Amino acid sequence: MPTHSTNSLLRWAMAAAALATLIPLAGCRQDMQNEPKMIPQRESKFFASGRSVRPQVLGTVARGQLDADTYFYTGLIDNKEQDAMPFPVTMTVLERGQERFDIYCTPCHSRVGNGRGMIVERGYKPAGNFQAPIIRNKPLSHYFRVMTSGYGAMPDYSAQVTTQDRWAIAAYIRALQLSQNATLSDVPPGTNIQTMAEVSQQMGYSPNFPDEWTLPELTNVPSAADMKAAIDAGKKSMPATTQSASKNNSPRRGAR
Ligand code: HEC
Repeated sequence: MPTHSTNSLLRWAMAAAALATLIPLAGCRQDMQNEPKMIPQRESKFFASGRSVRPQVLGTVARGQLDADTYFYTGLIDNKEQDAMPFPVTMTVLERGQERFDIYCTPCHSRVGNGRGMIVERGYKPAGNFQAPIIRNKPLSHYFRVMTSGYGAMPDYSAQVTTQDRWAIAAYIRALQLSQNATLSDVPPGTNIQTMAEVSQQMGYSPNFPDEWTLPELTNVPSAADMKAAIDAGKKSMPATTQSASKNNSPRRGAR
């Protein structure tokens, strides 16, 4: 009997000890279940806005959201350029395109898009003339792709001009082309149409104003090597005092 009672006492003690270790464990589990994690879209008191999810930072793209393979980004459908805009063209889009074109493209292509911009006049490789049939007959997304990836001697403008704006410029190129190739059927019936001759007469321009303008020959600009030779020759003929003064003013040129 005494043995029995000792045994049961021991068993009780062991059970109590086991329970004692379990209780903190149970408490631990409770804590982890209520951990302060955010469930998507659940409110939070942590941020003043009450949202647990932070709003996306402007100009960033979350993983998986970049649909970079759509027509808007590639200008291609089934690997082919298309004669279509990825969004509707409004007057606002055309005006934006004109503004961006005038900033980024006119230095080489000129305001009318004939490829005779100031940089070309000064010796850069002649840029494309948008009125030339070979360029005019290209599908619209070709222009978008030229801006996106560059073309021959033309650098790409994807860093300077956003995707949306590159499309706006492409639409504006079409407007420039239409301005030189419009027919009576392009204007609403009943529109008062005047010929260029009538307009120039009213404006008091010379009679040959409406004729096609012949542009001067492109300036024959000396090559970089010619210019360096001319500079070196100039330096040699300069008096010593002027030479050292100019060196002080522009140390980098002097160093070269
Ligand atoms: C630094 C000068 C320069 C600037 C700026 C420039 N281009 Fe060009 N572009 C060229 C040259 C040069 C070519 C001819 C490339 C060749 O044939 O190698 C060309 C060709 C083109 C063509 C014709 C491609 C073809 O199919 O023959 C298009 C369209 C065009 N550019 C659009 C643009 C647009 C739109 C912009 C403004 C975002 C722009 N370019 C800015 C120099 C320039």
